[in-house]
Amino acid sequence: MKRLYFLFLAGLLVLQRELTEALSERQEQQADLPPRGWNSYDSFSWIISENEFLHNAEIISKRLLPYGYKYVVVDFLWYRRKVNGAHTDSLGFDVIDKWGRVIPDPWRWPSSRGGKGFSEVAKKVHDMGLKFGIHVMRGISTQAVNANSLILDTIKGGAYEESGRQWRGKDIGLPERACAWMPHGFMSVNTKTGAGKAFLRSLYHQYAEWGVDFVKHDCVFGDDLDVKEISHVSEVLKELDHRILYSISPGSSVTPAMAKDVSSLVNMYRITGDDWDTWGDVAAHFNKSRDFAAAKMIGASGFQGKSWPDLDMLPLGWLTDPGSNQGPHRKSKLSPDEQRTQMTLWSMAKSPLMFGGDMRKLDERTYGLITHPVLLEINSFSTNNMEFPYITGRKNLKSGKGILNWQSRNSKNKSASDRRVLALSSCKDQKGKGWAVETIDEDLKRICWKDDFGIKDDPPVCLYKKKPQLTSDEEAIYMQQYQGNFHLLTTDTIDFCLDASPNRKLTSKELKTCSLSSCTWNSNQMWELNSNGTLVNSYSGLCAAVKMVKANFISSGIRSWIATGRQGEIYVSFFNLSPDTMVISANILDLARVLPGRDSRKASCRYSEVFSGRDYGVAKQSISIEVEMHASALFILSCTFS
Ligand SMILES: *[C@@H]1O[C@H](CO)[C@@H](O)[C@H](O)[C@H]1NC(C)=O
Ligand SMILES: *[C@@H]1O[C@H](CO)[C@@H](O)[C@H](O)[C@H]1NC(C)=O
Ligand SMILES: *[C@@H]1O[C@H](CO)[C@@H](O)[C@H](O)[C@H]1NC(C)=O
Repeated sequence: MKRLYFLFLAGLLVLQRELTEALSERQEQQADLPPRGWNSYDSFSWIISENEFLHNAEIISKRLLPYGYKYVVVDFLWYRRKVNGAHTDSLGFDVIDKWGRVIPDPWRWPSSRGGKGFSEVAKKVHDMGLKFGIHVMRGISTQAVNANSLILDTIKGGAYEESGRQWRGKDIGLPERACAWMPHGFMSVNTKTGAGKAFLRSLYHQYAEWGVDFVKHDCVFGDDLDVKEISHVSEVLKELDHRILYSISPGSSVTPAMAKDVSSLVNMYRITGDDWDTWGDVAAHFNKSRDFAAAKMIGASGFQGKSWPDLDMLPLGWLTDPGSNQGPHRKSKLSPDEQRTQMTLWSMAKSPLMFGGDMRKLDERTYGLITHPVLLEINSFSTNNMEFPYITGRKNLKSGKGILNWQSRNSKNKSASDRRVLALSSCKDQKGKGWAVETIDEDLKRICWKDDFGIKDDPPVCLYKKKPQLTSDEEAIYMQQYQGNFHLLTTDTIDFCLDASPNRKLTSKELKTCSLSSCTWNSNQMWELNSNGTLVNSYSGLCAAVKMVKANFISSGIRSWIATGRQGEIYVSFFNLSPDTMVISANILDLARVLPGRDSRKASCRYSEVFSGRDYGVAKQSISIEVEMHASALFILSCTFS
């Protein structure tokens, strides 16, 4: 079993190598797959130098390019002089040319001297086999407006003239439309004027001349939405001989409706605010990515190719702080489990993967995570990616006080947070007569509750019947006292047993909810089915019945995603966003239900969990696993449905 799993992994490694080759062949379609690369912001804020950048690029070309990470992007303020008083929203420290365009700070980017801009850096990056990207802001810099610079007409050459006069920065800058998050630095230009359009064209023509392959255009999306500028830049990029991948930012307040207005004009767009290395930031991405998947935005038509909802860079490894004037100096604050959760969600949601850590101090664990072959396979090639809502979970305190419950998921009853739970009451209670044995196959029997509470679409409440594993001493006691009794398991594969009582015998008639714990040889966990359909616990003498209760106590903190692979495999990830260890389960018929053309009445799935490497064999009913706080599990299933 293990061997099969590793063969599968080895296959993926080969596929991953093919991916790099496939990428270079498919020049026609931009962003055919979610783009992948490195961005300087998380580790250097704005202060990166040419040496530091090229050093990082060199390592990326050796260690990450084989995994498809091919864009290396200089993030914001590469034109700002790094001197006393300069910071992320200072005014007057930017280097601009005579046409009011920002150019690289020659002290930090020495190869830019003599009007060469980024061309030398781009050439070196290309020689490494990588693509070169830059971050740019909306419109025009406040400094160029204040300097009232002439505007370059790239079509006719020379200063832009219209109506018999030369146009300047003050004619096109819109001070009332300053960038909300950098109000002193940049403002929109008036795209209704020919001069405004000419100015934007002069910027992007210059980027193309430098050899820029990727532009992250900031302060035009989300709270700073400027559809006119995005449309115009997209048109200008179309005119160019040189292909530039078009990315827009920021992503605060972005909705699928807002994205639909611009997604065909760009290749990637942020859908969240900046993501940093806090658990809250990671958790905030679940609802957003779910909504964009549901709106069919993943891999939708984009600028000269496809477009991708962007969950932002991966702040892992060796980092700096948001907006800081300081370079990399600390480790990511996310725990290893949280980092894996982030990488797993980014992969299941097919987000662009832009690594943010300093490559010069990349630790092996982080490297293993961002080059994980299964995650990268899912990120590039999976389809039908979506949140999978039909999961149940329960707390797993080590003492075993988890409450067994089944979430109602009838679409007509969506608003009701109804749960069917197991409760104990007197065996004389007529309401307890609802159990019957069902045979699934010769090895597996289950005991199901007959009342479906009118929720016809929901699977019945069933427990799996199993004779306890006993030592020879225990076997003797069992034969004497418990002959015919059995354990009741919550799934057909994982050993969690229905436990009638905590540690004391129940004497009162009050309803007591059943709990779950690891299966042990213990009379609390011994059950017998009476011929009148009651299910009696050997220790307490009480009977189990299923009740409908209103509760919203369990699944708020658990999430799941599903996707299909290109070899027909199914990927299912479970995420535990709660602070408790949870046991998360899904019914395999429900997996079939959400995937196109797979609706069926019977299923059998061979499955393994990727992070543990554990092969679980075959499941016919459900999959289930214990997931630690903020951690995730990832299953690969190979199913037959009938
Ligand atoms: C996420 O979505 C769920 C379901 O729509 C909603 O109940 C919850 O409040 C949302 N969480 C956040 C943080 O918006
Ligand atoms: C919704 O659930 C309630 C139980 O909470 C049930 O009585 C009712 O019939 C259900 N409605 C539909 C339309 O299924
Ligand atoms: C069902 O049968 C058991 C065992 O014979 C008995 O103790 C119990 O009272 C019965 N319950 C009902 C509701 O008939």
